[in-house]
Amino acid sequence: MDGKEYARRRRQFMRMIGKDAIAILPAAPVRHRNGDIEYAYRQDSHFYYLSGFPEPDAVLALVPGRPQGEYLLFVREHDALRESWDGARAGTDGAVERYGADDAFPIADIDEILPGLMESRSQVYYSMGTHPEFDSHVLSWVNGLRAQARQVVGAPHEFVALRHALDDMRLYKSRVELLKLRRAAQISVGAHRRAMRFARPGAMEYEVMAEVLHEFRSHNADISYYPIVGGGANTCVMHYRDNDQPLREGDLLLLDAGCEHEYYASDITRTFPVGGRFSAAQRAVYEVVLEAQLAAIDKVRCGNHWNHPHEAAVRVITQGLIKLGLLKGKAAALIKDQAHLQFFGHRTGHWLGLDVHDVGDYKVGGEWRVLEPGMVLTVEPGIYIRPSPRVPKEFWNIGIRIEDEVLVTASGAEVLTAALEKTPEAIEALVQTA
Ligand code: GLY
Ligand code: MN
Ligand code: MN
Repeated sequence: MDGKEYARRRRQFMRMIGKDAIAILPAAPVRHRNGDIEYAYRQDSHFYYLSGFPEPDAVLALVPGRPQGEYLLFVREHDALRESWDGARAGTDGAVERYGADDAFPIADIDEILPGLMESRSQVYYSMGTHPEFDSHVLSWVNGLRAQARQVVGAPHEFVALRHALDDMRLYKSRVELLKLRRAAQISVGAHRRAMRFARPGAMEYEVMAEVLHEFRSHNADISYYPIVGGGANTCVMHYRDNDQPLREGDLLLLDAGCEHEYYASDITRTFPVGGRFSAAQRAVYEVVLEAQLAAIDKVRCGNHWNHPHEAAVRVITQGLIKLGLLKGKAAALIKDQAHLQFFGHRTGHWLGLDVHDVGDYKVGGEWRVLEPGMVLTVEPGIYIRPSPRVPKEFWNIGIRIEDEVLVTASGAEVLTAALEKTPEAIEALVQTA
């Protein structure tokens, strides 16, 4: 991404926090999997948003208005031996030249340098508790300054949660961010298509997952969350992760999978018949979920609030469940009693961006947040019917969710994942394509 984009974000953020503040952000720590083995490294999203710097063992300090430089990076120094094992490091020179820092220091020197940057500032913007290992460093710097403050120097007297200001910025996607989100969506659409063509009775859930992963990795993308690949009864397990069962003729397969590409996430769900044809009961439920999803998407437009799409989905699903004979009573009363919860137990979506469940408050001042252009959210209603004596057998183990990504625009909404088949006819045709 162009360095100008990060510089623009830092400027905006520094304007918000003001010249009496310093912001301190640590890089995400390396996490050990077992023995000497580490999990794949992924930078902290806030840190990345403000710097684009991808390495661990780094700290970003923003000191608005500091004449000698406002944007400082503490980074790992070059080390020929380590670099011969783990790959190149930017070093302090790279932090300045490639990542635009006004100045950069070895991370090993942070205890000597950072307190001096804090002493003339009264507020410290810091995300306490996010990276607990780092909290004690920050506290010791502040306490050290407070002890000295009785003698000569000043000391910050207030910690401010970094997250409020930054979360709000991240909620409104820039033009460049939208390009990234579109690309991640496009790759994920390809993966869903590939999975639908591949799936057939006798295949294993993990083989479908392998198709998805192959498509992601072929485009230099990775998973943005562990894929849910559930067939038959597993379609009704909300966070199914075993992905190890065979698919059978007559089963549905619920595939919830999205990639992360250049740090931006995608999140798509489709549900399709393994054998290429929906049963009458499956199709009837599918049509209710689809109608609910379209009604919810229709409510995504600026001026509406966060809960409008969910309310629309609940309305359509409740009416649909009555029509299917799965709920009994009047729609208004059932909606008031939240009768849908036994079949539709989750909410209709979440913000999407650098994180799959992206940052941003859903309520502001106790009221649902009003939708504005540049916000991106998922719309993902579902119906999940477990075996029960109160439910006709043909509906047992039908779990259906349909999830798309939607951008709020000035004139309405744009479905970023619209290219992916969604009507029952289009889905059946695609599954039948070998
Ligand atoms: N796959 C996670 C979600 O849909 O929110
Ligand atoms: Mn999902
Ligand atoms: Mn989702």
